[in-house]
Amino acid sequence: MKTIIHDLTMKADAGRLIAIVGPTGAGKTTIINLLMRFYDVNDGAIRVDGTDVRDCTRKSLRSAYAMVLQDTWVFRGTIFDNIAYGKPDATMEEVVAVAKAAHIHPFIMRLPQGYQTVISEDGGNISKGQKQLLTIARAMLYDARMLILDEATSNVDTSTEREIQHAMRKLMEGKTCFVIAHRLSTIQHADLILVLNEGDVVEQGTHTSLMAKKGFYYRLYRSQFE
Ligand SMILES: Nc1ncnc2c1ncn2[C@@H]1O[C@H](COP(=O)(O)OP(=O)(O)OP(=O)(O)O)[C@@H](O)[C@H]1O
Ligand SMILES: [Mg+2]
Repeated sequence: MKTIIHDLTMKADAGRLIAIVGPTGAGKTTIINLLMRFYDVNDGAIRVDGTDVRDCTRKSLRSAYAMVLQDTWVFRGTIFDNIAYGKPDATMEEVVAVAKAAHIHPFIMRLPQGYQTVISEDGGNISKGQKQLLTIARAMLYDARMLILDEATSNVDTSTEREIQHAMRKLMEGKTCFVIAHRLSTIQHADLILVLNEGDVVEQGTHTSLMAKKGFYYRLYRSQFE
């Protein structure tokens, strides 16, 4: 058995933004999977409000988080139902409000059946960027205290990308957020940045302190802007 993440100690205060960055394969998604108990830690513990997550059911734990994951998923059903997934009693007004906030409303209105349009399971009839915006709208409607964002690496055009960024910022407001960012420009204001490399937290701090250190994060950041 291979250990993927070694020696990680961190504390996330309520309402804070924790960013997780690092090269591909560094272990970022693994941290998210541990938070949600897709796996359990071999050593140590993860606690939410003081309770060891191993004493929570997976169901109750996952319901504490709104999520936008790297692999966005939609199911065969109407756009309305896809957005309302976490809140089955949502009204049309609520669904339209989050769709507007997520910049997906104009696209939906251009579809022949609007919110009643059925999308296929593979989401073949909507684009990747639109699927992402849809899952952001879904997470907005699902009013949880904690949020997990695993930024997708998929290529979307720059205007969609801007819309996604803007929607994500809105989604993050007032929640305790764990954000995996590939574009470091999106997490500069994070309260804590964890820098992972090959399963180790090689640095942690704020953007300013990490830049001043001129280490791994500094080089990662520079490489994105050169
Ligand atoms: N279920 C698994 N079983 C075995 N190894 C795994 C599993 N999931 C991930 N790994 C390994 O753990 C390491 C970290 O993977 P992880 O998915 O956390 O990377 P990441 O930082 O999220 O990368 P990316 O930026 O590409 O999303 C990788 O070397 C990967 O091969
Ligand atoms: Mg990942």
